[in-house]
Amino acid sequence: TVVILDFGSQFTRLIARRFREMGAYSVILPGTAPLERIQQEQPVGIVLSGGPSSVYDENAPKPAPGVLDLNMPILGVCYGMQYLAHEAGGDVKRAGKREYGKADLTEYGGELFKGIEGEFVAWMSHSDSVTQLPQGYQVVAKTEDTPVTAIENNETKRYGVQFHPEVVHTPKGGQLLGNFLDICGVSRDWTPQHILDELIAGVQEQVGSEGRVLLGISGGVDSSTLALLLSRAVGDRLTAVFVDHGLLRLNEREQVETALRGAGVNVVTVDAREEFMHHLDGVSDPEQKRKIIGREFIRVFDRETEKYGPFEFLAQGTLYPDVIESAGGEGAANIKSHHNVGGLPEDLAFKLVEPFRTLFKDEVREIAKLLGLPDDIRMRHPFPGPGLAIRCLGAITEEKLDILRRVDDIFISGLREFGLYDQCSQALAVLTPIQSVGVMGDERTYSYTVALRAVTTGDFMTAEWARLPYEFLGTMSNRIVNQVHEVNRVVYDITGKPPATIEWE
Ligand code: XMP
Repeated sequence: TVVILDFGSQFTRLIARRFREMGAYSVILPGTAPLERIQQEQPVGIVLSGGPSSVYDENAPKPAPGVLDLNMPILGVCYGMQYLAHEAGGDVKRAGKREYGKADLTEYGGELFKGIEGEFVAWMSHSDSVTQLPQGYQVVAKTEDTPVTAIENNETKRYGVQFHPEVVHTPKGGQLLGNFLDICGVSRDWTPQHILDELIAGVQEQVGSEGRVLLGISGGVDSSTLALLLSRAVGDRLTAVFVDHGLLRLNEREQVETALRGAGVNVVTVDAREEFMHHLDGVSDPEQKRKIIGREFIRVFDRETEKYGPFEFLAQGTLYPDVIESAGGEGAANIKSHHNVGGLPEDLAFKLVEPFRTLFKDEVREIAKLLGLPDDIRMRHPFPGPGLAIRCLGAITEEKLDILRRVDDIFISGLREFGLYDQCSQALAVLTPIQSVGVMGDERTYSYTVALRAVTTGDFMTAEWARLPYEFLGTMSNRIVNQVHEVNRVVYDITGKPPATIEWE
């Protein structure tokens, strides 16, 4: 294991992902994690991440006492490097100007850069710099503006880089991180097949030979993959419950049922469409809609699962990003109350089975491939728990949902047909309450406006609107207006997040 101590950089997770992509298991812990906590992970190397602090700040976060004395390689990135240098008696100063963006290394060498050749573009984002080297260290890379861009102490195996090797803007950064893994001598057995075998064995051990497991499925990649995994692990002792709240997309329920039943998963579908419509009738406030759906979902799930129980275990598709105890992220404002199938209340009398707690989404997708999940589900964009209800602005009706379903299907099928689906992180259609005047075949129309939205993002916390080709957007607009008579105007949402959110409600 490589332990990454997080000092609050927005890129910390990327470091873990890069290591894992190279087959090395790594975990993220808070920068100030106690030594015993770090040792629990049986580390063979440590990374000190970047972060917003300056080593001179009074409250600058520091690794726990003893961490720097551990007899293993340590790599400091940005703030991490400054901390290493400062602790070893070097000098760190606020640079005259912030250095932000791409910089070319004018020279580089040493262990970290071993085997790397040619131009090295490094992504910088810092205002402090190491101005005087600590004892035992040497400079191993420079840029025009930063004479001390990377340092190393080969005796103690301490390394520091001022730039961010983990981001795509540092194209050869992966090689550098790979060199660090080699220096640590960490085993490279974190492969999808290995992960899958371990997960199955882990579930079998937890659940035992009698235990029965309940799982709520949504049609998304996480719960579908989990269903396949659990069914491999415990067979028919898994009951996968699919609540159809009537807010799903065209043919979605059938698609998921077919994929999972075909693989031998014991799927129970609950048709709760009327109940949800009844409770949502006339409700137009977005938060209210979300709350009702979340509440009803739990009620229906509870009631229905009584019929198939008793269950000792409840499985959830919780992913690593949801459990990372990293620096920062506290006290975020409540923008929307999220509901999802995984978010069942904890006071249900179950033991939780959460095999994906250590995985990133792309790792789940790799495992899904091994488990034979069809690609159209495996590579699917996320879909929110409250479903189409939050894409049909204002109070929902059957008629509006039906319009939205047809529009969404044209747009999503179109993205697939034009090979654009995988280039977007998420795409959706929104039915607005706006009606406007149009003309079709010499006739005046007065119909709905739909908005199309597509975004690219890594973590869904921020997003850019996708620059879809005009040609494609034009084709979509024609198809939608021609095939969905209730719509006479199509607009494309060109707002990023922030300031907008991805969903419209
Ligand atoms: P926003 O609209 O907040 O969405 O930018 C960010 C991501 O979260 C998804 N989303 C949800 N997912 N339950 C979910 O499981 C929810 O209640 C929910 N609300 C939004 C949204 O689709 C996007 O991927």
